[in-house]
Order: sequence, then C-alpha cells, then structure tokens
Amino acid sequence: MTGAGIRILGIETSCDETAASVTLDGRTVLSNVIASQVDIHKAFGGVVPEIASRHHLCSVNGVVSEALREAAVLPGGIDAVAVTEGPGLVGAVLIGLATAKAMAFALGKPLVGVHHIRGHICAALIEHKDLEPPFLALVVSGGHTSLIDVRGLSGRPGEMAVLGSTRDDAVGEAYDKVARVLGLGYPGGPKIDALAKGGDPCAARFKRVMLEEGSLDFSFSGLKTGVLNYVNSKRQAGLPVNEADVAAGFQQAAIDVLSAKTRAALKLTGRKTLALAGGVASNSALRARMREDAEYAGIRLCIPSPVYCTDNAAMIACAGYCKFAGGGTDGLDLDAHATLPL
Ligand code: KG4
Ligand code: ZN
Repeated sequence: MTGAGIRILGIETSCDETAASVTLDGRTVLSNVIASQVDIHKAFGGVVPEIASRHHLCSVNGVVSEALREAAVLPGGIDAVAVTEGPGLVGAVLIGLATAKAMAFALGKPLVGVHHIRGHICAALIEHKDLEPPFLALVVSGGHTSLIDVRGLSGRPGEMAVLGSTRDDAVGEAYDKVARVLGLGYPGGPKIDALAKGGDPCAARFKRVMLEEGSLDFSFSGLKTGVLNYVNSKRQAGLPVNEADVAAGFQQAAIDVLSAKTRAALKLTGRKTLALAGGVASNSALRARMREDAEYAGIRLCIPSPVYCTDNAAMIACAGYCKFAGGGTDGLDLDAHATLPL
C-alpha cells in the first residue's frame, strides 16, 4: 500500500469550512481548497449547526472538483478517499462523510476515516518533512485544548496519550467569547490577536488557573468569566473600557497557562520535539512565546503555517495517508461522530 506516488483526496466538513485537498505521499500538498462559511455565521455570532450542514451540502461537490482540478488529478487517479469522521457537528460531518463514501464506492477506492484532532496534529508534518513520532503536541482549537504524547500516526488505538485536556472551555472558545463581549464579532480569535498588539497586557490582569500541583489539565472558563466580569463592571460603573488592554491582558493570561503546562509536559515526557496544532496555533503571540520557550529549552518546535492551523483538508489527507500507509481503511458503514476518542 505504501510507496511513492500515493495520492489521497481529503475531505473536511466538521464545522464551518467545506474543504478538500489532494496530497502526494501525505506531506506534499497538490491542492488545498477551503470554502469558508464565516461570513454566513457572522450574523449569528457563532456557528449555527443546521445552517453549516446546508452550506456544506451546497458547496462540497464544487470544492472537491476544484481540489482535483487544481491538483491535476482525475478522480480515478486517487488512491484513497480520506474524510473527517468526527469529532464535530454531526450534521456537518455527515455531509463530508456521505460525499467521501459515494466517491469511494463509485471509484472503487478505499475509504479512510480520520479523527479531526489527528488531522490537526498531522498538519505539522506538511512543512516539517522529517517530523516523525515520538513528539509532544499542543492542540489548541475552538473545541479542544490538549497536550498529547504522539507515539505513532497510523490511527491505531493507544498511539496517542492525552496527558491533559481542558476541563471546561477550550481556549479558542474563550477567545471567541471574550471577543463577543468586546463587540469584536465572530470568529473572535484573529480579532483579539490583532487588537492585543496595541494593548498593554499588564493594564488589566486576569487570573492564571493552573489547577492542582502537577496537573496537565486546563481550565479557561474562570479566565473567560473574569474578563466578562471586568468588562461588565466597568460598563455598569460608566467607566471606559480599553478593549486593546483587555484583549492583551486576556491573551497574556491564556498564553502563560499554555506555556507553563507545555513546559511541564515536555519535562515529564522528556520529548525534544513539540508540534502546535489547531486554529489558535495561528495566534501570533502564542507562536512567539512558544518559539522563545523552545529556544530556551533546546526543543525543536514545529508550527504549521496559519492556513494549516485552522480547519483544512490537507491535514485530513495527510492523516489519512498515515493511516492508509499503516494498512488502515474503513468500510462504507463508517459513522459520523460528535465525540470520538483519540
Ligand atoms: O481548529 P479550528 O479552525 O476549528 C476547530 O477545530 O475548532 O479552530 C477555530 C478556533 C476559533 O476559536 C478561532 O477563534 C481560533 O481558532 N483562532 C484563533 C486565531 N485564529 C483562529 N485564536 C487566536 N488567534 C488567532 N489568530
Ligand atoms: Zn479543527
């Protein structure tokens, strides 16, 4: 199954991006097409699941055709179809899954189900051609905040050990909610990132929630609530709110926690390589802090370009390749999952 010249079509529809990509031997991206629904969901201040599903349905065939055309590959020229099977909005996942199954069946090609978070982790392989397990991954997205010890990428159970996860809000969720209270709109992460550049991170100081001694779990709901209370109490007192300072103070607190827990996980595991994954990994301040930390500790840091941090299908095709290369394929009875263990 393995060897040079394996072309995988990847399809991703787990949230609000309809995406398709063709990769060659996993790490070479021949095309990476993303139809974002951000402008549609903006009006509602967040992703509306039913609307997301409907838009995936309208876009998916065109996005897949475009990915094949850009890659200059005929449908019959692909070796397998990889698709996100979860976790995600189940109605949204179903659209990509049904498309992938139909293509796999019609073309007589294998179907490969991919865990969305494994996809995010594999995004680091695309631009770091020699990156191989074992390594530590910090996954920071809208739905996840986890430190994962990655010992293999073939999709087999037990290859990935979750050392710590959020007990409440994901860090991306906290970014989005803080942005909402500041009236910045959706999605909030990139807006906080930009606004914080002009703010003083010490003007408004928020609590760093570290949990029990030695715990690698995270908790961001207290930080989020602290920011909301700060803003609301200022407003109620008729005092001005310096949004840039609030954004900078919030971001600094979140990054301090991510940095401390990641350093502790590196120490615990003895890993010498760290990969960042997920939409929040495109945050400029987090990237800068992780670079400083890695340099200080002599750790190799692999951060994907922003386009491979936020949801995309190249990461799914890459993770699909790793699973396929290890002999992993799925039947046409593959299900969509809202939650899915690693
Ligand atoms: O990985 P992703 O695209 O989707 C999920 O799997 O959740 O992550 C989306 C999250 C959102 O919460 C968004 O606000 C956040 O990533 N995000 C950012 C930035 N770009 C996207 N957060 C902070 N700074 C950014 N530049
Ligand atoms: Zn994602």
